[in-house]
Amino acid sequence: MELCELKNNYKIPNHICFIVDGNGRWAKLRNLPRKEGHKKGYEVLTKMYDYVREIGIKHVSIYAFSTENWKRPDDEVQGLMKMFRTAIKDFGKKRYQDCKIEFWGDLSRFDKDIREGATKIMEDTKDNDNFHINVCMNYGGREDIVQAVNALIKEGKKEVTAEDISSHLYTKSSIDPDFIVRTSGAMRLSNFLPWQSTYAELYFPKVLWPDFSKEDLIEAIKEYSSRDRRFGGV
Ligand code: IPE
Ligand code: IPE
Ligand code: MG
Repeated sequence: MELCELKNNYKIPNHICFIVDGNGRWAKLRNLPRKEGHKKGYEVLTKMYDYVREIGIKHVSIYAFSTENWKRPDDEVQGLMKMFRTAIKDFGKKRYQDCKIEFWGDLSRFDKDIREGATKIMEDTKDNDNFHINVCMNYGGREDIVQAVNALIKEGKKEVTAEDISSHLYTKSSIDPDFIVRTSGAMRLSNFLPWQSTYAELYFPKVLWPDFSKEDLIEAIKEYSSRDRRFGGV
């Protein structure tokens, strides 16, 4: 099946998220250093941007690096930083010119070049609306809620609404996720978008992220399409 045909026959999410898990295990199975798994995972990711766009999905978010991932060995963290540098360079290319690109997370902990590169991309693409790419890096869902509440306190609020919180999160200019896909078989969210995912459909295919293919994406969309979303109604 061609990707563009999917939207004629299946329900398509407006916002798909990928928790790209299993890079380390993919590398280990091949006796490679874990960072090689991240490198392959990044190649797969850039293909997925094209595929989801072809399907007609307008928002894609990636969990690339959690606030907890700093605990990993330095060599692996450095490998991931190299990947972020590549991503920042790639986002400057023509193929992303009409995309709105956001980085969700506390950027202050990254080296200056990554911090400034990411900030510049957000600034340069902020008025685009054709296709939205959100990369969660040094992202933690609880931390985001805490920083939002603290910002509201600073503004002088004594009592807050759900809308107040939503409008102070990293995700403020986006829409809630419809569909969260976590590869590698792990069935948890690991601090990913806890506020925003309350009514998201969750899907946990066993495939490791570096092996995630166009066919796996088609399977995922078919699965989403089969779900009955009721939002508490009947
Ligand atoms: C996910 O792959 C990518 C990041 C966390 C950055 P992992 O590195 O967690 O892979 P596994 O879970 O160890 O296989
Ligand atoms: C979640 O994966 C974070 C990312 C994919 C970036 P982890 O591999 O870090 O999560 P746990 O430790 O298995 O929960
Ligand atoms: Mg993992």
